[in-house]
Order: sequence, then C-alpha cells, then structure tokens
Amino acid sequence: MLKEIQQQPSIIQNILNKQLPYISLGKYEKNLKLINNIYIIASGSSRNAGNIAKYFLQSILNIQVQVDYASEFAYKDPIINNQTLIIVLSQSGETADTLKALKIAKEKQALTVALTNNKNSTIHKTVDFALEVMAGEEKSIAATKSFTAQLINLYILGLCMSKILDTLTDSDYKSIINQLYQIPQEFDKIIDDFSSYDNFAKKLKKYNHIILLGRGPDTGVADEGALKLKELTYIDANSCPTGEFLHGYLAFLDEKTPVVSILSPDKTVCNLALNNTLLIKDKRNPPLFIIKPESSKSFDDIISQNVINLPDCDKYIYPFYVTVCLQIVAYKMALLLDKDVINPRSLTKIVTHE
Ligand code: AGP
Repeated sequence: MLKEIQQQPSIIQNILNKQLPYISLGKYEKNLKLINNIYIIASGSSRNAGNIAKYFLQSILNIQVQVDYASEFAYKDPIINNQTLIIVLSQSGETADTLKALKIAKEKQALTVALTNNKNSTIHKTVDFALEVMAGEEKSIAATKSFTAQLINLYILGLCMSKILDTLTDSDYKSIINQLYQIPQEFDKIIDDFSSYDNFAKKLKKYNHIILLGRGPDTGVADEGALKLKELTYIDANSCPTGEFLHGYLAFLDEKTPVVSILSPDKTVCNLALNNTLLIKDKRNPPLFIIKPESSKSFDDIISQNVINLPDCDKYIYPFYVTVCLQIVAYKMALLLDKDVINPRSLTKIVTHE
C-alpha cells in the first residue's frame, strides 16, 4: 500500500501529460451542448471523489452537478433525460450498484460518460464515452492512487467540457492548468515529509471514535479520510460538514472523541470552519487536530497543538493534498494497530452484488 501511495506523484504527472492535451468528446460534443444538469453516480471512494469534484465542475461549467450513491440512484426513479449528463465513476468498472445505475441512465437516454481504471470492464464498454483513469493496477483493497487518479481525470474532463461549452476565459483556463501541474511536485513533498504524520497517527490510534470535519470540497475529503480510517484501522471514524455538525451531532461529542478539522485555503470558508471548530471545542472540549494550508495563521497553542501544514494552493486543489495526508495517517495508524493494510477484513476489491 505504501508503494501505491508513493506512486501518486508520477501517476498524476503521467495523466496530466497523456490526458490533458488529447482528451476529446468527439461526436458527443454536440450532445454535451444540450446538457442542463449533471449527475455523478458512484459508490464508496469513487463517490467521495465525485463529491469533491462537483464543486470544481460546477464552478467552471456553470451547470448544476449532483452526486448520488449508485445503489440509491437506481431505485429512486431519477428525473433525467437526454439533456442530462451522467458521469459514472468506478475504479473496477464492474461494481454491481454502479452498473445498475448506468443501465437506468441509458434507458432514460442520458448522455453517459465513465471514468474507470479498467478499459476492458463492463462499465467502460457500456457508456457513450469512457476515460481510462490510468492509475495502474491497485492491489490494496482500500483505494489510494486510483482515488487521486480518478479525481484528476474528473478535473481534466471538466476542463475539456469547459472548452466545448466556452465557460472559461483563456486566462482562467491557463491558471487552472498551471495549478494542476503543481500537484506532482507538491505530492512528492507531502510524501517525503513522511514522519510529520507520526504525531497524528500515534495520538489518533488510541481512540475508539474519530470525527472528521470539512466544508465545501473538503467535505468529500473528510468522507474519504473517514472511509480510509474505517477500512484500515476499524476505528469508528465519521465525517460531517463542519457547519452541519452543530445541528445535533455535537451532543454526543466528549473528551475521548477527537475532531480532525480540515481548514480550507479559501478565507471565507476557513473562517467559518474555524469558528465552527472553536465553538465545538468550547462546548465539548474534544482533542483537536487541525489540517490547514501552510501560510494560514498558526493555530498552535490557540486551539490545538496538533497541526499538519499543507502546501498553499487554490481551494479546489487543496483536496488532493489533504487526501494524501489522510491516506498516510490512516496507513500509519493501521501499522501501529497491527492491521492488514492490503486486505482489510470482510472487504473485496469489487462488490459484484447489489
Ligand atoms: C475504497 O477504498 C473501496 N475500495 C470502495 O469504497 C470502492 O471505492 C467502492 O466499492 C466502489 O468501487 P469501484 O470504484 O470499483 O466502483
């Protein structure tokens, strides 16, 4: 698993080199111009990637983007038609719930696009347009490199769509591309900084429950972080949008349940999340762990001794960095707890039944 985590900088670099300049929707460009809503359908980690990317896609495409559980979408009689774009995310390309959702989408004549890590998979071959995420074979059941590869490909797909729909200025487009090209080198730094995650891992591993909080795109990051912790350590890790946490969840919190609060590079979002976190600290006094961009003000001694600093970047790029950081924390915790990081109990790489 560590090797798969460490491969991420080169995988992202390779995807940027091979996908970004060449991706084209070909004959489906004209269908795309008619689209007025987008659904991302997926399960597990893939759905978390969708929940992060939806903020970026909506901002660059100016089209409503919704994310749904594949298992729910298939049975809710979704209101979709030939003006709906369905983006199906599946690393394996064989997940039964996702396949079922795709079948419904096709019956309702939506335009279907898939991102899979297997070009020979059923999902890859069933959709109108398929993009290979190019993460390489992933042996660990818990997704790491396939997750970030999926995410960057979603961003690349979004940029390709923005060209077709003419929704971005040239300078905004170029600025986003420049930021995407920063990711591999920043990933390298985050991964090289391996021992900086020891403090989080050593402390967090002692608890039975962990809460992860984030706002905006970081909500999906908190979801993915909680999933990684659950899969790898079997600790009851749960995520919630930071603001939403105050609406009831707060009551169960105690001094034995740490809160990992992800603070955004976006000033407004960061201040809101910080105020929410301070309120949570004030009311229930949980052990507090902060993940934040490097240059935002230091929180050491103010609210927490436990701080991870990540590279400064745009709010839509930041989820990549927090994700890798949480992958490493979860991996280290699993090792400290003597858990099997390749084959967590009861899980399979592909869920082939609904
Ligand atoms: C994540 O670590 C898991 N491997 C799991 O949640 C997975 O993402 C889910 O089962 C969906 O699989 P898919 O991407 O192959 O469709």
